[in-house]
Amino acid sequence: MDGNGRWAGKRSLKRFLGHQQGAESVQFVVETASRINLPFITLYAFSLENNLRRPKSEVNFLMKLLRSYLVGNVKRMNDNNVRMEYIGRIGELPSEVQDTMQWASEATARNTGTTLTLALNYGSRSEIVDAARSILTDLIAEAHQRGCSLEDLLQVDGLEARLDEHHISDHLYTGHMPDPDLVIRTSGEQRISNFLLWQIAYSEIFITDRLWPDFRGIHLLEAIQNYQKRERRFGGLGETFTDEDLDALEPAAEVAEEIVTELTSKQLAPR
Ligand code: FPP
Repeated sequence: MDGNGRWAGKRSLKRFLGHQQGAESVQFVVETASRINLPFITLYAFSLENNLRRPKSEVNFLMKLLRSYLVGNVKRMNDNNVRMEYIGRIGELPSEVQDTMQWASEATARNTGTTLTLALNYGSRSEIVDAARSILTDLIAEAHQRGCSLEDLLQVDGLEARLDEHHISDHLYTGHMPDPDLVIRTSGEQRISNFLLWQIAYSEIFITDRLWPDFRGIHLLEAIQNYQKRERRFGGLGETFTDEDLDALEPAAEVAEEIVTELTSKQLAPR
């Protein structure tokens, strides 16, 4: 949800007002997501780095805004069948914020439509560290329960059976969710900023210059429409690429020879 500060700056307003306007966008976008039956929408609301590097006054304001957003919107979330969840180092947030967050997730837990996940005090690298710690903790507990050493436990099944991509995915904060199909980045930023690094390995990326406070449901639909025209290949050749297409390709050695001939003739050509 990038661009709140710039949105405010363009209007000679304080950054806080940009965040306030950004919170308005959240509800519009989430309601559109719910209307089109999007199963999951995850919003990067507050990163670990935001928490560490922004002035205390801005962090405090964001915490207040989050609480008032939750208190003010739980009814609308229930009306729209939206369930509220969170990812991040939630335990490090102020206790009154954690209480309101828990209240909102409990109050919407029975909804079966869109799951709105807020990434709060979230950093993807620290999520991977937390996953590794949790895998290790589980293994130590199991070894303890079986009365053997960790080394013995790993020798029984082999390390491959104990640690693979599925284990890591399952221990991330998003273990119960599918990987995202589409990442939307607002305000024209062309970087990932420590967001779901593991999960977005094959996600499509849509970058818009629109600042988050100007982002509405219609812009979500525009991004999804753009996504629907793409061909996802997951490292393969894609559905439209057949064996006949492969046979029709010019052999690589011939292509290489043509390139060398062309480059050499250019070098030798009179200027
Ligand atoms: C990035 O914009 C945005 C944030 C750090 C905060 C996002 C928070 C909200 C939209 C409101 C609170 C959230 C909820 C769910 C109610 P920026 O400040 O970095 O903008 P800039 O890049 O233009 O300076």
